[in-house]
Amino acid sequence: MKLDAMGDLQRSHTCGELRKGDVGKSVVLMGWVHRRRNLGGLLFIDLRDRYGLTQIVFRPDADEAIFERGGHLGAEFVVGVTGEVVERPAGTTNPELPTGEIDVHVSDLKVLNASLTPPFVLEEPIKASDELRLEYRYLDLRRPHMQRLIEARHKAAAATRTYLNGAGFLEIETPMLAKKTPEGARDFIVPSRMHPGKVYALPQSPQLYKQILMVAGCDRYYQIARCLRDEDLRADRQPEHTQIDTEMSFVTEDEIFEVAEGLMVEIWRAVRGDEIETPFPRLTYGEAMERYGSDKPDTRFGTEIVDLTDLLGGTDFNVFRSVIESGGAVKCLNAAGCGGWSRSEIDKKEELAKKWGAKGLAWTKVDGGALAGGIGKFFSDDERAAVIERAAAADGDLLLFVAHDRKKASRILGKLRLVLRDELDLVQPGVFNFVWITEFPLFAWNEESEGWEAEHHMFSMPRAQDLDLLESDPGKVLGQLYDLVVNGFEIASGSIRIHRRDIQERVMAVVGMSKEDAERKFGFLLKALDYGAPPHGGLAHGGLAPGLDRIVMLLMDEDSIRDTIAFPKTYRGLSLMDGSPSEAEPAVLKELGIELVKPPDDDVPGQSSG
Ligand code: AMO
Ligand code: AMP
Repeated sequence: MKLDAMGDLQRSHTCGELRKGDVGKSVVLMGWVHRRRNLGGLLFIDLRDRYGLTQIVFRPDADEAIFERGGHLGAEFVVGVTGEVVERPAGTTNPELPTGEIDVHVSDLKVLNASLTPPFVLEEPIKASDELRLEYRYLDLRRPHMQRLIEARHKAAAATRTYLNGAGFLEIETPMLAKKTPEGARDFIVPSRMHPGKVYALPQSPQLYKQILMVAGCDRYYQIARCLRDEDLRADRQPEHTQIDTEMSFVTEDEIFEVAEGLMVEIWRAVRGDEIETPFPRLTYGEAMERYGSDKPDTRFGTEIVDLTDLLGGTDFNVFRSVIESGGAVKCLNAAGCGGWSRSEIDKKEELAKKWGAKGLAWTKVDGGALAGGIGKFFSDDERAAVIERAAAADGDLLLFVAHDRKKASRILGKLRLVLRDELDLVQPGVFNFVWITEFPLFAWNEESEGWEAEHHMFSMPRAQDLDLLESDPGKVLGQLYDLVVNGFEIASGSIRIHRRDIQERVMAVVGMSKEDAERKFGFLLKALDYGAPPHGGLAHGGLAPGLDRIVMLLMDEDSIRDTIAFPKTYRGLSLMDGSPSEAEPAVLKELGIELVKPPDDDVPGQSSG
């Protein structure tokens, strides 16, 4: 293919710009050949750029040679056309397209670059496989849908900067080559050439640096920060993600919430044009677990879990009685309007519940004010009336029960609640329910290592009234620790930080860190705390880190964060476009003084059989 010199051709408009008011203008457009059609002896091409599509028309009666050349254009050729803006004939306008009232009649064509035939059609919705799309990411990103995602992310980031700059925050960069900053995932490690045998870690977040910036008197910090974590990936988790990382001095939890709420308002306004309501409701972790069986509840719909334990202590249904006698709970979900479900439909839900660890899923239906079928017959009249009332059950409802230890029963019904949401279409698109989850436990028990670990990270402040429990009953200690949740997704996490060495050392001891260990790993932080870490009294320093990828995913109704990122990785951590990770050259490894030993396939995550 012979390419035409660009000459002095200069783009006059974008492909999304021309309207009826431009009719009669002579224009120059540049873009990619999107779709081609031959109709009634004319050639129509949709010319595409980032801004939109414009239909350009080649007519043999106008210029035979140009028409002929237009016919040889392939998909994704890059062209420049000169032409006249013409009103489309009646009946051929396209109201779906902003430029749908006009055509550009081509008088000159320059082929600026050819393209091989693309391996998939750039259509909406895309039909190509994820693998192909990721390998040819530059083609996939040309699609209008992907361009909108890129633009949305940009708008969210820009709104963030404008808002935080206006609120007196300083944007400060922190190192990528860092000392381990623990967020509970595995680190990506970078061997040091100048210090053989030593490594840097890529930051899991700027957590320690931002705390030290508070000690340094910076008062209000933010950074749109890349965070790198070597963890198992899923729809809302990438090995590299971006946080809107913030930290503030001399503030209360309420002030942090207020700043964050203002930020969300600005982001939602900038990207969707929606006005969201503040302040956001708050739920304690304990309450969220009780009512929704999750620390990231989807509060767009009711169907809350109810606790029947106090009503059923003396029931004739042995399974429930014995669970209650041994300290467990009986919890119930009202599947409203599902009284018509067949046995096999209920059995399928029981299978799910069992997969999640339930011993069973008891059920009964409400019919004429009575409980019919399933375990209904075991309830006394009083129990029946009390259960119906507590579950706010009406005729035609199906009640589902799990008896287990308190937390597990809630968690299982919490998952079932989301299955009901999806199967029964309980939520409307375009609705965003924000909720703060507060007072998380500071520690979680790790069954495998049989030890306490930090629920969030080790630097969160216990509630003042729980300080005395640190050594005696760590499981009961609640933290000044909070998440922001939207529609069942955790979009931000933060805490008031420990600003005293003694408390920090006690927390480290609870998670099994010896004094020497703490000194070796975090001595630099402990030392900084000795030099006037802000503040004292009732105030504290603290912060919050909203995850930008998840926010854009929600804003744009995406199911995964993958397409909110220009160059994402697969679930197996691969970049299919550039083929990373890739082999390192032996000379490079030698210089670093390291040797890579590939373990047997069985030991590589995701590569064992099955
Ligand atoms: P945390 O680890 O909870 O807290 O992360 C904060 C927020 O970042 C997002 N996020 C992720 N998004 C995509 N992929 C991932 N792998 C991923 N991991 C986390 C989530 C999450 O709410 N330093 C603390 C914050 C603080 O205490 O200020 C931290 O990193 O939206
Ligand atoms: P069974 O007496 O084992 O035949 O169980 C009767 C019903 O109770 C079945 O529907 C079981 O699924 C259910 N069931 C058994 N154990 C539990 C439990 N721990 N919680 C809720 N339902 C249960």
